[in-house]
Amino acid sequence: MTPSPLLLHLFLLISAVSAADIPLGSTLYASDPNSKWSSPNDTFALAFTADPTSSARILVAAITYNNISIWQAGSSTNSSAVLRLLPSGDLQLLPTSSSTTPLWSSATANIGVSAASLEESGNFILKNSSGAALWSTFDHPTDTVVPTQNLNVSHTLSSGIYSFKIQKNGNLTLLWNSTIIYYNSGLNSTMNSNLTNPTLNLQGTGILTLSDPTLATPLDLAYSSDYAEEGVILRFLKLDSDGNLRIYSSAKDSGTTNVRWAAVSDQCQVYGFCGNMGICNYNDTYPVCGCPSENFELMDPNDSRKGCKRKVELLDCPGREAMLQLDHAMFLTYQPELASQVFFVGISPCRLNCLVGPCIASTSLADGSGLCYLKTSEFVSGYHSPAIPSTSFVKVCSPVMPNPSVASASGGTRTRWRLTAWLVVVVVVVTLLGLVAVEGGLWLWCFRNSPKFGGLSAQYALLEYASGAPVQFSYKELLKATKGFKEKLGAGGFGAVYRGVLANRAVAAVKQLEGIEQGEKQFRMEVATISSTHHLNLVRLIGFCSEGRHRLLVYEFMKNGSLDNFLFTSAEQSGKHLNWEHRYNIALGTARGITYLHEECRDCIVHCDIKPENILLDENYHAKVSDFGLAKLVNPKDHRYRTLTSVRGTRGYLAPEWLANLPITSKSDVYSYGMVLLEIVSGRRNFEVSAETTHKKFSVWAYEELEKGNFEAICG
Ligand SMILES: *[C@@H]1O[C@H](CO)[C@@H](O)[C@H](O)[C@H]1NC(C)=O
Ligand SMILES: *[C@@H]1O[C@H](CO)[C@@H](O)[C@H](O)[C@H]1NC(C)=O
Ligand SMILES: *[C@@H]1O[C@H](CO)[C@@H](O)[C@H](O)[C@H]1NC(C)=O
Ligand SMILES: *[C@@H]1O[C@H](CO)[C@@H](O)[C@H](O)[C@H]1NC(C)=O
Ligand SMILES: *[C@@H]1O[C@H](CO)[C@@H](O)[C@H](O)[C@H]1NC(C)=O
Ligand SMILES: *[C@@H]1O[C@H](CO)[C@@H](O)[C@H](O)[C@H]1NC(C)=O
Ligand SMILES: *[C@@H]1O[C@H](CO)[C@@H](O)[C@H](O)[C@H]1NC(C)=O
Ligand SMILES: *[C@@H]1O[C@H](CO)[C@@H](O)[C@H](O)[C@H]1NC(C)=O
Ligand SMILES: *[C@@H]1O[C@H](CO)[C@@H](O)[C@H](O)[C@H]1NC(C)=O
Ligand SMILES: *[C@@H]1O[C@H](CO)[C@@H](O)[C@H](O)[C@H]1NC(C)=O
Ligand SMILES: *[C@@H]1O[C@H](CO)[C@@H](O)[C@H](O)[C@H]1NC(C)=O
Repeated sequence: MTPSPLLLHLFLLISAVSAADIPLGSTLYASDPNSKWSSPNDTFALAFTADPTSSARILVAAITYNNISIWQAGSSTNSSAVLRLLPSGDLQLLPTSSSTTPLWSSATANIGVSAASLEESGNFILKNSSGAALWSTFDHPTDTVVPTQNLNVSHTLSSGIYSFKIQKNGNLTLLWNSTIIYYNSGLNSTMNSNLTNPTLNLQGTGILTLSDPTLATPLDLAYSSDYAEEGVILRFLKLDSDGNLRIYSSAKDSGTTNVRWAAVSDQCQVYGFCGNMGICNYNDTYPVCGCPSENFELMDPNDSRKGCKRKVELLDCPGREAMLQLDHAMFLTYQPELASQVFFVGISPCRLNCLVGPCIASTSLADGSGLCYLKTSEFVSGYHSPAIPSTSFVKVCSPVMPNPSVASASGGTRTRWRLTAWLVVVVVVVTLLGLVAVEGGLWLWCFRNSPKFGGLSAQYALLEYASGAPVQFSYKELLKATKGFKEKLGAGGFGAVYRGVLANRAVAAVKQLEGIEQGEKQFRMEVATISSTHHLNLVRLIGFCSEGRHRLLVYEFMKNGSLDNFLFTSAEQSGKHLNWEHRYNIALGTARGITYLHEECRDCIVHCDIKPENILLDENYHAKVSDFGLAKLVNPKDHRYRTLTSVRGTRGYLAPEWLANLPITSKSDVYSYGMVLLEIVSGRRNFEVSAETTHKKFSVWAYEELEKGNFEAICG
């Protein structure tokens, strides 16, 4: 039986005006919460929503997913606004339904637009009668990119004064006020020279890739920390209003949105984050903005990110200018300013040259480079942190007001804080004196009659050594043991290691710690924790030294050195070879050591730096994990340190959460261990890229080969 002509006709009619198509003349009303244009499966919708960045009930026409806006038309407007697809084919945002002057327009009048549709990908297109897209939101992005959307050199993401662009050479750049480039990262010069049309794409799996006609396969630029995880997850790349570029993921069911990667790992390095003359600083976890001193006040007391202004302008005090000194602070300088503001002068000329010149602020880097930045532009962006060695100066109208704490909120809270501090000091001192008196009394009473009183401390030290408690060495002793730090065994993330022979003729490895900012007491506490952690597969701590600024750790000596010497140098070269039995035992031993740290000891320790360099082998090729417990010694508030680790060479072992600034748990070590395991099996670095691995990271390539069942290729 053939279908009746009427039915056929009806069917044709329905398919022509498909449910997703929005005919010319359609209108969305801001006043009607139910008016919206949806994608076929309701994943995305174009409608008026409240602008989340504004406290007032301002409405914007936006494409949303789970209340997340991925595109916005024009600027905010009031509740009588409409979004209309005019009969001419122009899409306009109008202040009222009867108005004719648009607030925003797609500028597509009379080019043949016959309908619009919102696709399942989140792309809203204006199309002609044969269905070709003449205009699309993917091609006119605002601040967000979603999977299947391509970004090339002709596109810009913007958010307030910040913008994001991809350069001709494939570099990703973040700009302030379209001029200052505060982030510029991409391929190295051998890779980028031939690019013709670099295109950035966020894969649905959470990998940011760069493709180009001259590249055989797209290159991976960044991984979101949850990449390739299963579930209905929308991942998107967004330029936030704080000037950072982030990858987010949002699970459809949970409605939560999480940061999975950030381009600038240290938010205070974002140019202008605290506005003009504002100083960025970290409280425990968050970046906060404040003013350089009492000579300044916030532009807007309700929003510290708007920057600061002088209470007395320089113009109003000719001849009475002075330089306010800020220790541990710097004023950020990036290209293209950088070229004109850098000078090689010492700290006093850095201050003086600024005072007498047309300069308004200066920074003496004091990082060994001998550089001084003289800021002549009207805009200065500051960063204060105990870890910054630089000293900065700002020109103010004298007298210079005290700057007890940069970024302090208000005078009132500070006085209260001072009072509290005094009280605490007094109470602590009195308590300590009391305790000392009592202890001294007890001590005398106990040993009043002991003839051995004098020899006790030496005996005690011996006892300590035997019992496995850490021995305290003097710096002089260690200097002698290592013959003046002559024989270097290696250099780890926390400092160099030297061979030493102790007084009892035992050979030891002496580690000279660097970048430890913690006080004596905390250092001792950490040493106590480390040395109370005993396991066959952990390197034993013999003792320590804490004298002045010297912090050293003394470990048992491992005859065969670290695992990387065996894995990555060819056997002929080093004369060292690991047979499969040894490899198996090393993998197992390492796992046992890490398990003990995570689960079986009293204070659980996350190692944070598992890599072949930190796995040592004794004379029987038994693996022992070293450097555990040290991550805690480095100032956890030091965001610069975190930044450094993420750009250091060992990035291949860092779990993705490090790069996304997410909490670090024992799972991070498991990730690193997995990489080490792959390297033990293959003898190759996990992040190695070669023609053989089709220009992918070895770990990524190995996984693909594994899925194909091609084990031999991996084991090499
Ligand atoms: C829409 O949903 C249906 C049923 O859940 C599914 O089969 C289809 O693939 C979805 N379409 C798109 C474009 O995702
Ligand atoms: C979106 O926001 C509205 C109002 O703020 C709220 O009622 C709704 O539950 C949200 N929807 C989702 C999926 O979060
Ligand atoms: C919204 O716009 C209309 C027309 O321009 C105007 O009359 C009205 O006052 C505006 N409302 C608000 C709250 O600004
Ligand atoms: C629609 O646009 C495409 C691409 O611009 C063009 O090739 C096609 O001829 C147009 N169709 C009509 C009916 O104008
Ligand atoms: C960028 O992509 C758009 C399409 O998305 C294309 O029209 C444009 O020509 C591309 N720009 C360059 C410089 O290739
Ligand atoms: C941004 O640049 C423009 C011109 O390049 C300049 O007039 C404006 O003052 C700058 N904005 C700020 C906040 O410095
Ligand atoms: C591109 O980025 C790399 C770092 O990833 C940098 O070394 C290089 O100088 C940048 N290229 C340009 C032209 O800025
Ligand atoms: C640039 O990168 C490629 C592949 O990532 C690498 O083979 C090459 O050695 C690098 N060149 C430089 C100068 O770093
Ligand atoms: C770039 O092009 C030159 C000449 O065409 C070629 O020799 C070179 O190998 C190319 N470089 C890359 C990284 O493809
Ligand atoms: C740090 O600053 C954030 C944001 O300003 C605030 O929410 C948080 O309470 C502050 N934390 C501390 C310990 O002061
Ligand atoms: C700051 O907020 C308070 C209360 O929210 C308001 O009264 C005041 O006008 C605001 N000040 C500025 C400068 O916006």
